[in-house]
Amino acid sequence: METDSKVQTLIWDGRSLMLIDQRKLPFIKEYVICDTYEKVAVAIKDMVVRGAPAIGVSAAYGAAIAGMQYEGVSKKDFTRFFEKAVSFLAASRPTAVNLSWALKKMKEVFIKYEHLGIEAIKKKLIDEAKLMESEDISINKKIGENGTHAFKNFKGKVKILTHCNAGALATAGYGTALGVIRSLALIDKIKHVVVDETRPYLQGARLTAWELYQEKIPFFIITDNMAAYMMSKGEVDGVVVGADRIASNGDSANKIGTLGLSILASYYRIPFFIAAPISTIDMNIESGTEIPIEERDGREVREVMGKKIISDEMPVRNPSFDVSPAENITAIITEKKVILPPFKENIRKLF
Ligand code: MRU
Repeated sequence: METDSKVQTLIWDGRSLMLIDQRKLPFIKEYVICDTYEKVAVAIKDMVVRGAPAIGVSAAYGAAIAGMQYEGVSKKDFTRFFEKAVSFLAASRPTAVNLSWALKKMKEVFIKYEHLGIEAIKKKLIDEAKLMESEDISINKKIGENGTHAFKNFKGKVKILTHCNAGALATAGYGTALGVIRSLALIDKIKHVVVDETRPYLQGARLTAWELYQEKIPFFIITDNMAAYMMSKGEVDGVVVGADRIASNGDSANKIGTLGLSILASYYRIPFFIAAPISTIDMNIESGTEIPIEERDGREVREVMGKKIISDEMPVRNPSFDVSPAENITAIITEKKVILPPFKENIRKLF
């Protein structure tokens, strides 16, 4: 699949899903082969693949692989097997709504074609996952394009701060927040990108920097506690981040640390943008308080790239996401349009 990027996050080879192992980047470029839905679920849980849209597309392939794994002839057993696989995949990570969104679509395809033979249903599931992958790339390009409009009032080149990785690696290709940055770079509007390191998993330092470096987009990396300093010194004209789930009132969950950035941006009167596909909006929840926040293994805090920095006796916490309140968000950049406040009303109009 052409991604217009030098990074290929996921590759479907007709039988299995190959996922670039994001735990090992940037120094080791290795693919993990998932030929069962169980392996796809473990890859999502263990962060081989991460980033809301990439998780969604991977789960869709996981459901398609589940279809292929079924070797029986009973339609009833096939349905039961598929449903079990979908529930297993759905439990892999809780915060990114793209996971359940993608699985819901796969279930709808299953139901739509239930009248067909087992082999035909299997094919329909694969076709749907492939479609989701290619649509994700075109959606991201549209987000990128719309993002350039959000910056049209900025004179000259802009300095953007981003957090975590919302790039090609977090999607099927191109990226959401990094897609906006890519699109701005294409029209020569980027002065530099300030890349938050993003402890504990270092998605910024390891992944975003790697993507920007390959694209030759100017950037520098900071540790997370340097963001306020950068903003106070005029090094940031705008913050652009992705999202894992957006409540219907605009409250947006993203990588831990994003909330702090939204507060800082509001203090320094710096525009704060969320870039995400419509599928990241969860219309079933009214506000960010309803978003489930994943707490990951304390080992990620105790260690940096496998090297222990805190002893096991020390208590730690590891919430993986936080929620930026709608009032701190300047606009939500989607593939359909740039949504401005009041978010509750303007989001509803899109559905
Ligand atoms: O824990 P991760 O690495 O899956 O968290 C990823 C993020 O928080 C991203 O910013 C978000 O999923 C948007 S990706 C386009």
